[in-house]
Amino acid sequence: MDKEYNSQIGRGVMIVLATVVAAYSLRYYGALGNVWAGIDPKIKAVILQAPLQALIHMFIAPVALALGPLQFYPGLRVRRPMLHRWSGRVYVLACVTGGGGALATVPFASGGWVAGLGFGILALLWVGTTTAAWISAVRRQFEWHRLLMRFSYAMTFGAVVLRLQIPVGYLLGYDSYSSMSPVLAFTSWVPNVVIVALYSMQEARWCSRSSESARL
Ligand code: HEM
Repeated sequence: MDKEYNSQIGRGVMIVLATVVAAYSLRYYGALGNVWAGIDPKIKAVILQAPLQALIHMFIAPVALALGPLQFYPGLRVRRPMLHRWSGRVYVLACVTGGGGALATVPFASGGWVAGLGFGILALLWVGTTTAAWISAVRRQFEWHRLLMRFSYAMTFGAVVLRLQIPVGYLLGYDSYSSMSPVLAFTSWVPNVVIVALYSMQEARWCSRSSESARL
C-alpha cells in the first residue's frame, strides 16, 4: 500500500467519524423544546445551569468538526480556492465561538475541577491556535498556516476521540461519563497533538532530505 492510498483511507475514516459525531450532536436542539432524549442527565444539569454558553458550544462546535476535513483535501484547495477560503472562515468562526462557549461552560463541567482544568486548557489552546492559523493565512505565511491548522483540527477531533474513549472507560470500570471525564478531558486531545507534532517533525526531515538529494 502506498502513502497516498493510506492517507486517503485515513481521511475517509476521519470524515465518517467527524460527520457521525457532529450529526449526533443535533439531539441538543431538543433542549430548546425541553426534550432531553439521548442526553446524559449530568450534561442536562450542565445545560440547565449554564444554558447560553453550553448550547452555544454544543450547537456551534460540531460545525467546526464537520467542516474541518474538507480543508485538508489538497485537490479541493487547488481547484476551488474560494471554497477553501470561505469554509476556512466558517471553521475559524466556529472554533472561536464554540471554544468561547466551551471556556464559559468549564466552571460547570460535570466532571468537576480536574475535568474543567483539562477542558479549559484545551479551549484556550483551541481558540489561540486557530486564531494564529487564520492570521498566518491572512499574512500569506502558508507553511505556518498549514502547521497550525493541523494542530487546530487535532484538538477539534478530540470531540471524536473523547466519544470513542467512553466505551473503553466503561470497560475499565468507570460507572458514568462524569466519573471518567477528568481523565477524558486530557486523554481525548493530548495524544492527537503529540501525534501531529511527531508527524510534522518527521515530514520536515523527509523534506530536508529530499531537497538535499536534489541539490547533489
Ligand atoms: C476542542 C475544544 C473543546 C472543548 C474545550 C470542549 C469543552 C466541552 C465541555 C467543558 C463540555 C461540558 C461537558 C461536561 O460537563 O463534562 C462539552 C460538552 C460537549 N461538547 Fe465540547 N469541547 C470542545 C470541542 C467540541 C467539539 C469539536 C464538538 C463537536 C461535536 C463538541 C461537542 C460537544 C457536545 C455535543 C457536548 C455535550 C456533551 C456530549 O454530548 O458529550 N465539543 N464540551
